[in-house]
Order: sequence, then structure tokens, then C-alpha cells
Amino acid sequence: MKHSIAIVGCGKVGTSLGIYLAEAGYKLAGFASKSLLSAKRAAGIIETDNFSDVPWEITKDADIIFLTTPDSAIEDTCSSISSHSGFRKDAVVFHCSGALPSTILASAKDCGAFTGSMHPLQTFASAELKYNPFQGIVISVEGDDRAVSVAKEIAADLGAESFTIKTDTKTLYHASAVVASNYLVTLLDMSFRLIGTAGIPDRDAFKVLKPLIENTLSNIEQVGISKALTGPIVRGDSETVAKHIEEIGSKIPELLDLYKTLGCHTVDIAMTDNVLSEKDAKKLKSILK
Ligand SMILES: NC(=O)c1ccc[n+]([C@@H]2O[C@H](COP(=O)([O-])OP(=O)(O)OC[C@H]3O[C@@H](n4cnc5c(N)ncnc54)[C@H](OP(=O)(O)O)[C@@H]3O)[C@@H](O)[C@H]2O)c1
Repeated sequence: MKHSIAIVGCGKVGTSLGIYLAEAGYKLAGFASKSLLSAKRAAGIIETDNFSDVPWEITKDADIIFLTTPDSAIEDTCSSISSHSGFRKDAVVFHCSGALPSTILASAKDCGAFTGSMHPLQTFASAELKYNPFQGIVISVEGDDRAVSVAKEIAADLGAESFTIKTDTKTLYHASAVVASNYLVTLLDMSFRLIGTAGIPDRDAFKVLKPLIENTLSNIEQVGISKALTGPIVRGDSETVAKHIEEIGSKIPELLDLYKTLGCHTVDIAMTDNVLSEKDAKKLKSILK
């Protein structure tokens, strides 16, 4: 018999968790959210009548509780449930923040519950996705031994892999995820603006650049970061880089600093494995600074 699970915070992650935990055979003790409408909507998807805007009504009998509110509300929500005796002794309480440690759930621990965090390395753009967003992804887990072991079981049931992260390294771990996901969007925005200024309409930018993006990812997977690098910097072609700087400076000057900063970092990557000579690196850096 699988554990019963309560979800507090019926947004994108909470609703997805509810749907796919129910599909994996967990009993949903119910959904709670700040607005009754959000809780009702999530409950309606898996056809349960257990929903409320009073979290402890839903959490008090659950084996496992997910606090999937925005990060800024997790600690207070946990304290509020604790102060209303809303966690059973031996319950396991999780949040899903990548940046925050499980120690923010200390109030639940004081009630005799186990605490942990489960952060899905995934981007949830909607509460009702048409596919299981946990399938094949990695979920980082940390917390009490008991919470970590339950988290690993849940991750496997959702179709995900899991790894344990040190509690005090979560901020850097989360910064890495932000760079990989959010800053990739920023980087592609820059690329689309450059190609747009070159005359390729917005609607075609992604289509035109997609094979290049996909092959770069595939190369990184196959040969690693430094060997995946191609283009003018790794070739030591400082004339081309100087022309980029001139054109960007005259047509889209607001992107110039970012281009130069990324270029300098790219020179450093090109120097690993001695692919780029010291002499070429020095010349490139003087242009890019
Ligand atoms: N989105 C992602 O890509 C992603 C990825 C990995 C991890 N996470 C983590 O997952 C957690 C949830 O993020 P999300 O993107 O799902 O956020 P979200 O879509 O904004 O959903 C949060 C939900 O919590 C409800 N809520 C707000 N304050 C509350 C309170 N005091 N008590 C009860 N419910 C409250 C919200 O309000 P209503 O009830 O008014 O609707 C909303 O439905 C965060 O810790 C986040 O860091 C998110």
C-alpha cells in the first residue's frame, strides 16, 4: 500500500505532482492552496473532493506532505500548519525549492515529522502538462535520512532518477540550474536579436538556428565542453571577432558588453587542452576587454 500524500500550493509543480503521484498509485489525501479555486481545480483533475484553503485540514492525516507554494511562502506555511498541529508525528514533509534547504522546515521537525527537499531539475511552464514532466529527469534530494529514502522512492515512482545534494551547497547548485535553463533563454534572445538585425524575421530565427543549437548540445554530450567549442575564438581568428565587436557596437550597442564578457570566458575555455595558443588568447582578450 503506497503512502498518502497532501499537496499544499496548487500551482504548476504542486498540480503536476498531484496528477503523476496519483497515476503512480499514491493515495491523494487532498489539495490545499491559498485560493480555494486553485485547490478545487487541482482536485478536479484527479477527481477527488478533498480540497481546502485551510492547509491543516488536508495535511493532518497524510503520510507525506508537499509544500509547493512559492519559495517565499514555504517557511511561513510550514510554521502555520505546525502551529495548528497539522503534521502527524512521523509524517514526511518536503518542499520543492532548488535554492532553499530543508532546514527551513524546522517547525515541522519540532512536531516530530521528518523533513527534506525534492527539487525536480525541470522547467514547469504550466500546471496541466500533456506529458509526465518527471519522466526521465533528475530530482535532487536532501534532508533527514528517512526523508531522503522516501524522496528516492517517490522519484523512482514518478519515472525520475535522483541524487543526494549537500544541504549547504543548494544555493550554488540552484545557480547552476538557473544558468542552464534561464540564461540559455537569455543567450538565445541575444542570438535572435543579432540574427533579426541581420534581416532574418523573428518567426524564422528559431528554425534557422535550431540545428546549430541541437548539434552543439549533442557535441557537449559526446566530447565535453572544451572540445565542443568551434568558431572564431577557438580558431584564434581575432579579425572576425573584431568585426563582430565593431558591428554590434554600431547596430545593437546594448549587447556589446555581454558579447565581450562571454567572449572572454570563451577564450578561457579555448585555452583548456592547449587548443588556443597563449599568443592568440592574449590578442583576443585585448580586443574583447
Ligand atoms: N516552476 C518551475 O519550473 C519549478 C521547477 C522546480 C522547482 N520549482 C519549485 O516548486 C515550488 C512551486 O513553484 P511553482 O512554479 O509551482 O509556483 P506557482 O505556479 O506560483 O504555484 C504556487 C502555488 O502556491 C499557492 N500559494 C501561494 N501562497 C500560498 C500559501 N501561503 N499557502 C498555500 N498556497 C499558497 C499559489 O496560489 P493560489 O492558491 O492563489 O493559486 C499557487 O497556486 C517552488 O518552491 C519552486 O521553487 C518550480
